[in-house]
Amino acid sequence: MKGIILAGGTGSRLFPVTISISKQLLPVHDKPMIYYPLGILMLAGIREILVITRSRDRWLFEELLGDGSVFGLSIAYAEQPEPNGLAEAFVIGRDFIGDSAVALILGDNIFYGAGLPEICREAAARESGATIFAYRVDDPQRYGVVSFDGQTGLAETIEEKPERPRSSWAVTGLYFYENSVVDIAASIRPSARGELEITDVNRAYLARGDLHVCRLGRGFAWLDTGTHDSLHDAASFVRTIEHRQGVKIMCPEEIAFELGYVSADQVLKRAELLGKNDYAAYLRRRIRELADA
Ligand code: TTP
Repeated sequence: MKGIILAGGTGSRLFPVTISISKQLLPVHDKPMIYYPLGILMLAGIREILVITRSRDRWLFEELLGDGSVFGLSIAYAEQPEPNGLAEAFVIGRDFIGDSAVALILGDNIFYGAGLPEICREAAARESGATIFAYRVDDPQRYGVVSFDGQTGLAETIEEKPERPRSSWAVTGLYFYENSVVDIAASIRPSARGELEITDVNRAYLARGDLHVCRLGRGFAWLDTGTHDSLHDAASFVRTIEHRQGVKIMCPEEIAFELGYVSADQVLKRAELLGKNDYAAYLRRRIRELADA
């Protein structure tokens, strides 16, 4: 399976902060925002990743992530000149995807919770259809909303930003699809707001009876980073957990080491390159701890 991180968009709710810099490069406590979705794809076992950015931001992401080799990954880049919708990722990424299955994650989505790696690996291993994740929110009007059949518990409807939501379950920004998503995305037309809607893609799978919706319960965090307050809250959340536990959330070097993608020497070299700072000190400490474990 291949992975796409969609990191375009205007980030206008964060203006003036995001006038000159992409939202997904802003810090969420101790690391750039894009490390969080990158970590999720890694935990799902995905190593070939396409990062889609606005044309003008591409070089910044290339500077940050390079070819992915420090994380034991292969990272390629593509551009989305205009924010024409999430489903455009599969149009832009068509050649990259080839005949593989593909996961899409939004570059500003932060997930946290016990068992997340297993859930992601399970979704990646499912051979047919689509797997999406739903999370209970108190403002469902802002999201794609999925409702469920009271008897079977199966997904019944999906609506994009409904005025009167049929449930509180928002569709999160993490999606796993079989290869047919490329053709489905190519066939949908822009919505009234002019976007290729991921909701229309998911509806196509729902109509085929091939949409799996995994409900993430209250033991999980799905954090928003789109406004100044939510970005601050997300950073505080990460800081609180990291301080309490002494381990980092979504540190790609650490994940790469634990998955056996990179050696201890490679991580130590990376720490040396990063220089004298807490992040590098953390990498050194974790390598020691993991080697002793
Ligand atoms: P949004 O929250 O819809 O948009 P945005 O982040 O640009 O912010 P704002 O509303 O403040 O202007 O997008 C969600 C995520 O998807 C975000 O990471 C940007 C990304 N995105 C794209 O990369 N391309 C797109 O065409 C769209 C619609 C969003």
